[in-house]
Amino acid sequence: MYKIIAKKILNKDVELMIVEAPLVAKNAKPGNFLIIRVDEIGERIPLTIVEVNGTQVTIVYQKLGYSTILLSKMNEGDYIHDVVGPLGQPSHIREDVVSVLGIAGGVGAAPLFPQLKEYARLGRHVDLIIGGRTKEHLILVDKYKEFCKNIYYATDDGSYGTKGFVTQVAEELYQKKKYDLSIAIGPLIMMKNCVALNKKYNIKTDVSLNPIMIDGTGMCGNCRVTISGETKFACVDGPDFPAEGIDFEELMARQDYYKEEEKHICKMKLGK
Ligand code: NAD
Ligand code: FES
Repeated sequence: MYKIIAKKILNKDVELMIVEAPLVAKNAKPGNFLIIRVDEIGERIPLTIVEVNGTQVTIVYQKLGYSTILLSKMNEGDYIHDVVGPLGQPSHIREDVVSVLGIAGGVGAAPLFPQLKEYARLGRHVDLIIGGRTKEHLILVDKYKEFCKNIYYATDDGSYGTKGFVTQVAEELYQKKKYDLSIAIGPLIMMKNCVALNKKYNIKTDVSLNPIMIDGTGMCGNCRVTISGETKFACVDGPDFPAEGIDFEELMARQDYYKEEEKHICKMKLGK
């Protein structure tokens, strides 16, 4: 059993928890994820390890389906049934990179955080574009301020920063500044569009993928992704990948695969 040390509501859709998980914390590296089960019969929820502090790990989740809604009903002092990890490959930190631009879309700001922080720790120049539907959807901004040299904001409704998508801000920035690498994490369509834009400006892109995962250990095949014609598994080969050759269309076609079942179980068990 894993104790919830703290819980913070980041906005109406997204929450943060700090969980006591000494063995996971001891071995975690930037880019690793963990899988939790809220209770004994719970679905397995994969979540990026956003930060490690001593024996505690920070996770951020979006209340999207039955299991994350169940998780959000838990509070400080409660116990999560299982926490398994660290899983996946640590982020590949590129040696030849001097300046890095992180591009965070919505809740993608959470998986981007450890990777970008690692580049800053290694002394690289790190800037960030963060985008969200509204001002309240710009998450972890204070934490990013601790190590980003410049932060640029975009909101879909114009409530903060540029009115528009992160790609619009990136295109304006690329007219003035040169980056060796962009790490883009957010909705698939955002990552796909970032890759296309970066290609135009000859900037390499890394992304993080979150296809449906079941076991998280390379056994079930649910998290498969096609990269340059080869099948990879996000849980054991990723979740972070160089973007070159990723078949985003295939990922987008598969991401809503269990949407109807999810709706059904939410209605059955939560009445909504
Ligand atoms: P969202 O739909 O609110 O979008 C967030 C931002 O992404 C927008 O504000 C915009 O700046 C940008 N964006 C959206 N559509 C775009 C487009 N067509 N072109 C360019 N930029 C665009 O995102 P959300 O609801 O916070 O995030 C949910 C999504 O993020 C889910 O699809 C989830 O699967 C994904 N996600 C990905 C990861 C990962 O590791 N890759 C982790 C968590 C969540
Ligand atoms: Fe089953 Fe990756 S989650 S193979």
